[in-house]
Amino acid sequence: MNTETLDITKKEVEKKGFLDIQLDPELDLFAEIESLKKEKNAILLAHYYQEPDIQDVADYIGDSLGLAQQAEKTKADMIVFAGVHFMAETAKILNPAKKVVVPDLKAGCSLSDSCPPALFKKFKEQHPDHVVVSYINCSAGIKALSDVICTSSNAKLMVESFPKEQPIIFAPDKNLGAYINKVTGRNMLLWNGACMVHEIFSLEKITKLKVRHPNAKLIAHPECEEPILRIADFIGSTTGLLKYTQSDSSQEYIVATETGILHQMMKASPQKTFIPAPPNNSCACNDCPHMKLNTLEKLYLCMEYEIPEITMDEELRLAALRPIKRMLEISSKAGI
Ligand code: 13P
Ligand code: SF4
Repeated sequence: MNTETLDITKKEVEKKGFLDIQLDPELDLFAEIESLKKEKNAILLAHYYQEPDIQDVADYIGDSLGLAQQAEKTKADMIVFAGVHFMAETAKILNPAKKVVVPDLKAGCSLSDSCPPALFKKFKEQHPDHVVVSYINCSAGIKALSDVICTSSNAKLMVESFPKEQPIIFAPDKNLGAYINKVTGRNMLLWNGACMVHEIFSLEKITKLKVRHPNAKLIAHPECEEPILRIADFIGSTTGLLKYTQSDSSQEYIVATETGILHQMMKASPQKTFIPAPPNNSCACNDCPHMKLNTLEKLYLCMEYEIPEITMDEELRLAALRPIKRMLEISSKAGI
């Protein structure tokens, strides 16, 4: 299938979005996406928090660092990014000449939104002797104000790339920042941001769950709050958590991160049991509403029509590129 056979033109889609398009329910979206990849020399990068169907059709699934590394080295003409905006934006910063498209431009991030560049600039000006280490979950505007970017897999390494006496501002995630302060013995100044998904876990319910499953290990993402991290058996990025469940000998895990990662954990270790850590109320769940805006249908349509596309101001791109490159270089030297 191609745009000629869909009864809506690219111009109309640009105006209205994908909402009015009724796809034939018999259409084999997996096969269509595979053929579009070849036809357009496109690479499909997906984060672990994407729905299982999207993960299954992706060329590469990974954590934020892995995705940035793949984006840096790809030879494809088009990058299709199934994740959230800051991830696709990072791919565009690294690849100004390539087209970067996403299934839904509204897939943002509460953590990134918690740190507006204009306000952060003022904060930074109040601490002129500090360098800035920013978690990759932030806008290009924040990256442009940073000295180095980090992800949950290399945050310790990035912070320790500065001398111990160097004052540091860590933005935007206060939970990851507090965790890195603890493991490095530093006293970084933390921006007051957090992820809505990782702040939802209930210590009380996890404690009860641990009583009912005494052999289960609690594994947690460092975006979780300190009381959860304190009782965790292992803390790591999404890739770190997945690898841990593959190499560790336990048979049961309580997983304190977004539920999307369970798909790969169950695929890699079908004999093991994975229990999503319970949230602190009965209606909200630990699915990321931003990540889950992407669907297989929108993914197919974005590849077909090559919209919506990530575009960037060149001056901003160059300013944001510098700290990302610094992170990738330090990471690569350390073999991470
Ligand atoms: P990582 O996959 O890099 O651990 O990040 C998790 C996350 O919250 C992404 O939004
Ligand atoms: Fe942002 Fe949290 Fe969703 Fe990740 S899980 S995209 S940090 S809101």
